[in-house]
Amino acid sequence: SHSINLAVIPGDGIGQEVVTQGLKVLSAALPQDVKLETKEFDFGARRYHATGETLTDADLDALKQHDAILLGAIGDPSVPSGVLERGFLLKLRFAFDHHVNLRPSRLLPGVATPLAGQPAIDFVVVREGTEGPYTGNGGTIRKGTEHEVATEVSVNTAFGVERVVRDAFARAQARPRKKLTLVHKNNVLTFAGHLWTNIFEKVAAEYPEVTTDYLHVDAATIFLVTDPARFDVIVTDNLFGDIITDLAAAVSGGIGVAASGNINPSREFPSMFEPVHGSAPDIAGQGKADPTATVLSVALLLRHLGRDAEAVRIEEAVAADLAERGTTPRTTEEIGDALAARVAS
Ligand code: IPM
Ligand code: MN
Repeated sequence: SHSINLAVIPGDGIGQEVVTQGLKVLSAALPQDVKLETKEFDFGARRYHATGETLTDADLDALKQHDAILLGAIGDPSVPSGVLERGFLLKLRFAFDHHVNLRPSRLLPGVATPLAGQPAIDFVVVREGTEGPYTGNGGTIRKGTEHEVATEVSVNTAFGVERVVRDAFARAQARPRKKLTLVHKNNVLTFAGHLWTNIFEKVAAEYPEVTTDYLHVDAATIFLVTDPARFDVIVTDNLFGDIITDLAAAVSGGIGVAASGNINPSREFPSMFEPVHGSAPDIAGQGKADPTATVLSVALLLRHLGRDAEAVRIEEAVAADLAERGTTPRTTEEIGDALAARVAS
């Protein structure tokens, strides 16, 4: 179609600054005949303090009317930990069935990594997004006593595991190296581990060209540091995926460049694209935040909408910008302007 109807959630802290630049680059990338319509949603700490509300059913209905969602960051020290995270971010991921949490890692030329040498890093983590220990199944008994017991149940359904494993196999099949690694902890988490392993092996039989591998999550953290080039596509559960994608970001340029997509592959609901980083309240409003992660999230958004050509233009602009990035610090806006100029040229 020749219009994009985008819901924009700037959120808290640096969210507004990075989203402004992301939208600037998006506008620059789109051909003249594509109409970009944006609607901003004022979710986050400010609205929570003003109304006591997080995400309402009416909000969800309004968001549903859009082709996709661009999110800056949600989270603020003035709100107890977990309230905004559960109330906005996780609620959105669950309500819109964002079961594929896509997190690519590429170490681009000119980008510093704490790793020795310059390993070739180009992999994507397919993190399950709607199950595992994130569902809020659990509880506390004897609360506040010395005998308090807390449980946090990890929910793994055959349906939920199979659909994300299938998505990961399809992505691996489409990439040149065609390799898929399952990351879990099936030596200890035997119930969920066996469900994941069995479904992984079942689906593998349908993809004879895809090379498969299995790693326990602890071993995977070693290889992400010592041999990240071994990874092509990784599929894993919600919590392991959360943890290893921060590590993946750290070795491939840091959270300043780490992008993500919360994807509903069936397109029944809009998918949501966001930088992996948080709201960084310590640097908010100072023009110091790097908008690159948001800009790369915009590229993922375009690819999800079938606009691969524009996605590639943005990724190439980012690669060129990073390769030529000097030592002089630039403001958020200067980086956004530079990227928009490259994309438009
Ligand atoms: C992320 C974040 C979230 C998560 C938090 C803020 C709920 O860490 O997007 O990786 O754990 O998924
Ligand atoms: Mn995280």
